[in-house]
Amino acid sequence: MAFKDLRHYLDFMRSKNKLVEISEEVDPILEIPELGRQATYSHVPPLLFTNVKGFQGWRVLTNVYYSMEGVYELFGTRNLEQIAEGFLSQFGEMPVTIMDKVKSLPSLLKMGKYMPSSKRPLFSEDDSVNLGNIPATKTWPHDAGRYMTFSIVITRDPEKNVNNLSIYRVQILNEREALVHWQAFKRGSMAASNYRDKGITRVPIAIVNGVDPIITFTAASPVPPGLDKYLFAGILRGEGVDVVELSNGILVPAHAESVLEGYVDLEDNRLEGPFGDHLGYYTPKDYYPVFKLERAYIRENPIYHVTSVGKPPLEDAWIGKGVERVFLPFLKMVIPDLVDMNLPEYGLFTSVGIFSIKKRYPGQARRAMMSIWGTGQLGFLKLIILVDANVDVHDINQVIYAIASTVDPQRDVMIVNNALNDSLDHTVLNPPLGSKMGIDATRKFKEELGREWPEEVASDPEVVKRVSKIWDNIKSKYSSPP
Ligand SMILES: Cc1cc2nc3c(=O)[nH]c(=O)nc-3n(C[C@H](O)[C@H](O)[C@H](O)COP(=O)(O)O)c2cc1C
Repeated sequence: MAFKDLRHYLDFMRSKNKLVEISEEVDPILEIPELGRQATYSHVPPLLFTNVKGFQGWRVLTNVYYSMEGVYELFGTRNLEQIAEGFLSQFGEMPVTIMDKVKSLPSLLKMGKYMPSSKRPLFSEDDSVNLGNIPATKTWPHDAGRYMTFSIVITRDPEKNVNNLSIYRVQILNEREALVHWQAFKRGSMAASNYRDKGITRVPIAIVNGVDPIITFTAASPVPPGLDKYLFAGILRGEGVDVVELSNGILVPAHAESVLEGYVDLEDNRLEGPFGDHLGYYTPKDYYPVFKLERAYIRENPIYHVTSVGKPPLEDAWIGKGVERVFLPFLKMVIPDLVDMNLPEYGLFTSVGIFSIKKRYPGQARRAMMSIWGTGQLGFLKLIILVDANVDVHDINQVIYAIASTVDPQRDVMIVNNALNDSLDHTVLNPPLGSKMGIDATRKFKEELGREWPEEVASDPEVVKRVSKIWDNIKSKYSSPP
């Protein structure tokens, strides 16, 4: 069952007694983000503020992705891999554009239910709304100002006509201008550069806030470039998104709580930041282009959706974990050797990744590492640890044991210099350029070690059977938690 809008989701959470409604007056400047972070760190369910200082008539929502439990509730399943597996079992492969790979009529008809369709908007134009009077928050004391932290920036690629929905932070400058922090290689900036190649420097965009949280999840997801994000949202929801075309040609969800229509002026770049980011540090100032507001639309009694990033694990960590599970079946299609992956929440999703492979030939681990670095946003990973299929990548002790018992650093650690990393990485002089490390923690083939890999110890099953009664007796009396 898909949530038809954000209110439907809130009703669902309210019915499960999992919505915390706060009527005390709270300031979007630092206070809402502070409460949001404390709630996420404590796995408290979503917070809905109904009395927002200085922003009468608005309600502010935070902490939707409050833990893995919160993500499971959204999708109505604990088995997130099943979503992709179900899709792949119907279609066999990932469509690249809406039409490209859906060639046969039956599969086109089946795909139809995931595609966006035109509906009447639930919002209406309101020329009293501007960037100054929406309840965007200030997250950290030294942030440059108020930011839209969970708004969806929507662009449309001028060449492929693909719809891009992406979470980028947006810094409010004044009532009609804001800075869009789309990093190079993200869909927004790629679309912008395609507009520039055509000689167009006013990129039509919409900044949308307050939608079905699965659409927000999709906007934060590394969907392969070229694959329409509305189509992908439809796949994750099990139902296409109802959309409305704005006068600048951008499609927006018909149920959005607020929509800001305008363009990004590629000729007008200004310094963005500082902003306390997901690494837990302030990002230094850098140049980003300016969004210019032309029209605004809101629903009655609108809800504004915000988040706070900072030291992990915050909401983006649980989105990242959800992304890891949802995307694993798709990733296995691209890297067939892959068995499992763990992007640990303290590894920031752009920094540390642990992957297991079914190892069949010498040199396979390095090959897999290079495939991973060559795959979409996994390319930002600074450290890849590769282990054999029998190692549980989610058990850090097993991973450390694999490193300790299979790695010769000189042979098994690969450093790649001057590679592309996260542009927010403050540990290097010239981000996004930095180095990468791959650790091959797999058992080595004869060709890799120079002799046979030694035999591993294993109990004699007969002996285990023989002593089992005595052991059960000892265990029941004396065992204690580790
Ligand atoms: C809370 C939050 C804030 C984010 N802020 C930014 C940002 O300011 N700039 C950016 O490029 N990516 C940011 N991201 C990551 C993108 O949303 C993510 O890379 C996503 O996959 C967008 O990819 P796309 O450009 O391929 O649509 C943020 C993600 C989250 C969850």
